[in-house]
Amino acid sequence: MADSAKPARASWSGKWAFILAAAASAVGLGNMWRFPYLAAKYGGGAFLLVYIVLVVTFGFALMMAESALGRKTGQSAIGAFSAFGKKFAIIGILASAVPFIITPYYALIGGWVTKYMASYLVQPASEIADGAFFGGFILQNAESYVWMLLFIAAVVLIVAFGVKRGIERVNKVLMPALIVMSLAISLFALTLPGALDGLAYYLVPDFSKFSAELVVAAMGQMFFSLSLAMGIMITYGSYFQKDQDLEHSVRRIELFDTGIAILAGLMIIPAAVAVSGSAEEVATHAGPGLMFGVLPQVFTGFGFAANAMGFLFFALVFFAALTSCISLFETLVSIVDDATKKGRTFAIMVCATFVVVMGIIVNLGYNELLSVDLMYSLFGIGEAGNAQLLDFFDFLSNTIMMPLVALLTCIFVGWIIKPKTLIAEVKQSSKFSGEKLFVVMIKYIAPVFVVVILVAYVMNTAGIIAL
Ligand code: PHE
Repeated sequence: MADSAKPARASWSGKWAFILAAAASAVGLGNMWRFPYLAAKYGGGAFLLVYIVLVVTFGFALMMAESALGRKTGQSAIGAFSAFGKKFAIIGILASAVPFIITPYYALIGGWVTKYMASYLVQPASEIADGAFFGGFILQNAESYVWMLLFIAAVVLIVAFGVKRGIERVNKVLMPALIVMSLAISLFALTLPGALDGLAYYLVPDFSKFSAELVVAAMGQMFFSLSLAMGIMITYGSYFQKDQDLEHSVRRIELFDTGIAILAGLMIIPAAVAVSGSAEEVATHAGPGLMFGVLPQVFTGFGFAANAMGFLFFALVFFAALTSCISLFETLVSIVDDATKKGRTFAIMVCATFVVVMGIIVNLGYNELLSVDLMYSLFGIGEAGNAQLLDFFDFLSNTIMMPLVALLTCIFVGWIIKPKTLIAEVKQSSKFSGEKLFVVMIKYIAPVFVVVILVAYVMNTAGIIAL
């Protein structure tokens, strides 16, 4: 379609369409894969508590700000910020860089999930539960590239052919199925010997576990899981109709996303403690491989149904990951499309090439480039050789870029365009019961919090203070 004949900006068919689309973007590997391993690593209940507090305060304010900004300007991130002055485009540009960092490694893990889903169809569950299965698969063979490419191909084809609608409809069935399935697995996991210790570790906050690093990790996870601080909610807000209740929608999305994350932790952490003997053991070994190591062991407990359970579970995670990755990929495409103005097909080709090349590089971090530890060599974090490229990119986006974008967004909304600009936008369609919270968070608490916590974290890592 020629530019001049572009239709008026597409809009959601109603509040629930917005909630569902945002939830489909929000619920993904962040909930099922990332949240549980962070919670396991950072003291269980302490992490959970910090996370929930952050979601209902900071997360709420930021999601309101982003979606209202999008609805007010009718633009995606870069356009939305520069609508108030060209120099503010930089915030949108920084925000837009984040999905470029995340998408490749997200697709790599999407490939792992695809591999597990397929394996349960052809291999005995006991073999998949073997510790060597995951390591053998990601560390030393060409197969992991193939699965990643398959996952990327699925994402690109869906975006290219615009069959997203169909996927979203399927999602309405699969999301509830994912919840039911996770509940069943959690209940089963709790019957494992030792699982109740794990449950206590997960639910009872141990205040001695608090650290700056825990809070930084919880904050990064909140941005990642709610798809915040990367411009996506601005774009979604821009499709939101002027007469629909923004605040209500934002609360629903948060509830849904956080509920699923908590459930995923319930499914994995007690089982992990049961499998490895103690919470301390889990805490020292929890990492990106947690989900792929622990759940297969839980599934073997289902006896003859183990393969069916394993397949079903990974198929549901696959769909959650797919819809999130579609949302990430579409963001890339629209950014490149807006920047180059060479049409969507061109943009899709550029983005697909980018994701494949970067994905291969991230995957090389598990084999040929295993010795490259940028976390250690660039930032002095951890022990040399402990972190892979995936950890590095995850760190770069979640711990550095997103807090920075969130900080700039707060300063922009709180002090430059002023909260009242967005409050008026929200109030166009409903009352704003969280108005006071919104103002206080955006103007004072959130920005100060981000700065203090990041400074404390850096000083701690550099060994200047001990927290
Ligand atoms: N929120 C998604 C998840 O939790 C990841 C994501 C981030 C998706 C940003 C889209 C945009 O998995």
